[in-house]
Amino acid sequence: MHLTILFLTSALLLPAHDGHGKAHAPASAKALKSPLTAAQAKPELGKPLYEKACASCHGPDGSAQTAAAAAMKPKPTNLVDHRMDSMKDGEIYWVITNGIAKSMPAMKTQMSDQERWQIVTYVRHLRGAQKAKDHKH
Ligand code: HEC
Repeated sequence: MHLTILFLTSALLLPAHDGHGKAHAPASAKALKSPLTAAQAKPELGKPLYEKACASCHGPDGSAQTAAAAAMKPKPTNLVDHRMDSMKDGEIYWVITNGIAKSMPAMKTQMSDQERWQIVTYVRHLRGAQKAKDHKH
């Protein structure tokens, strides 16, 4: 009986981006804040980094509709889906830094801290661009 209540409560507390049943970053990652200045946080600085490290799986536009993505299990997350809105910048940064076992490489030793935050900025930019498109029709 108590267990049932516990189960229900934890289901309700799942973040929305966890619609696929997984949130990989620990709760503490939500509090991580970007150290970038406004000049460093320009999306065009994150773009080449994203295209090099992420686009092969998540697609150049973030929608994960690449041939490689179709063949993968689990499938790469659609980074421009509305569910991404509930994922905090710190969680995206954490996933980029630490990767996801067997699914996604860790960038911790491949890129500087600043570059990883610049990718976070670009992922947000892609979602923003998708939102703008959705509102047009
Ligand atoms: C080799 C393919 C691959 C590459 C390269 C890759 N990813 Fe992923 N990524 C995945 C897969 C697969 C998942 C889904 C894993 C799952 O559902 O368990 C994922 C999940 C994610 C998630 C969602 C995590 C969550 O907790 O819901 C984010 C955000 C993400 N990737 C961002 C990135 C970014 C940014 C880059 C570039 C630095 C990147 N990925 C590079 C394959 C990749």
